[in-house]
Amino acid sequence: MESNVKLTKLAECAGCGAKVGAGVLAELLGDLEVLEDPDLLVGFDRSDDASVYRISDDLAIVQTVDFFPPITDDPYTFGQIAAANAMSDVYAMGGEPKLALNIMAVPADLPREAVHGILRGGYEKAREAGVIISGGHSIIDREPKYGLSVTGFVRPDRVLTNSGAKPGDVLFLTKPLGTGILTTAAKVGMTAAEDHARALEMMKKLNRDARDIMVKYHVHACTDVTGFGLLGHSTEMAQGSGVEIHIESEKVPVLPGTEALAKMGILPEGMYRNRNFAQNAVEEGGTELALQDMFYDPQTSGGLLIAVDPADADALENELKSKVPEAARIGTVRTYSGGKRIFLHA
Ligand code: CO
Ligand code: CO
Ligand code: CO
Repeated sequence: MESNVKLTKLAECAGCGAKVGAGVLAELLGDLEVLEDPDLLVGFDRSDDASVYRISDDLAIVQTVDFFPPITDDPYTFGQIAAANAMSDVYAMGGEPKLALNIMAVPADLPREAVHGILRGGYEKAREAGVIISGGHSIIDREPKYGLSVTGFVRPDRVLTNSGAKPGDVLFLTKPLGTGILTTAAKVGMTAAEDHARALEMMKKLNRDARDIMVKYHVHACTDVTGFGLLGHSTEMAQGSGVEIHIESEKVPVLPGTEALAKMGILPEGMYRNRNFAQNAVEEGGTELALQDMFYDPQTSGGLLIAVDPADADALENELKSKVPEAARIGTVRTYSGGKRIFLHA
């Protein structure tokens, strides 16, 4: 399956770690004008996962785009992960992805079978999700990149944003953390083979089951945990919702092998960017540094962070157990007391 080109050797930084920092992005877009339209239900201003535009009272389209350099050497696996990651933003809004377009950049001398492998991974994942890839655009570039622009559907009254969390809500995270640390360490041969395989497995997994289950319950807010890490995305949710978030550090699911690497200081550059962005809003509460680092670790194709009404928390937890066994209850939402937004409890 693995072609003889080392894809990750061609990438300057891996996966969602390649994202521009949240603070920087907000500054760059701050003074640019966008048309106002009452049917644009979700736009950039709320730092959400995807934009949502109302077509009628029962139909809105969800649009998103995501692409990045190779996070693994196997083209087919890279294609699968990039596609699962791109579709995730539609699931995070409570929507169902339906159409997609390829976005691809490849070096002129990348072997044909490697390019084909990337596309095969993307098409296969899209097919699994019930998504039609109907076209796309490719360019020649020194660094390979792949992803999808995805369009989905959602009922306008069922859109889930990251800004609806309410005091009392229970928080769930549906995939373990650590993909940034494990893939960074894998580039220098420091990730155990089985730990690397598990990380790839989790990144390939669609957030569809988590979405299909969550929409049956009274969920107030949702986002997927990707480039800004658990604490970056939690901070956005807390700020956007006007609440504070309390996380039980020991309850947060983490991929095997991650903690040992974090303790050795094997950390992706994106971790430091995420820490710089969010740390003023975070009260560490005695949580050890290695755990904090894992909570700032940029994720690729991470899980959903779900804030659910406490009355539905047990039922949601039970139903997640069958199809999303990695999901865990990690904390609660509380009334904002005016200080920090995120409280870690060791
Ligand atoms: Co997202
Ligand atoms: Co995204
Ligand atoms: Co959302």
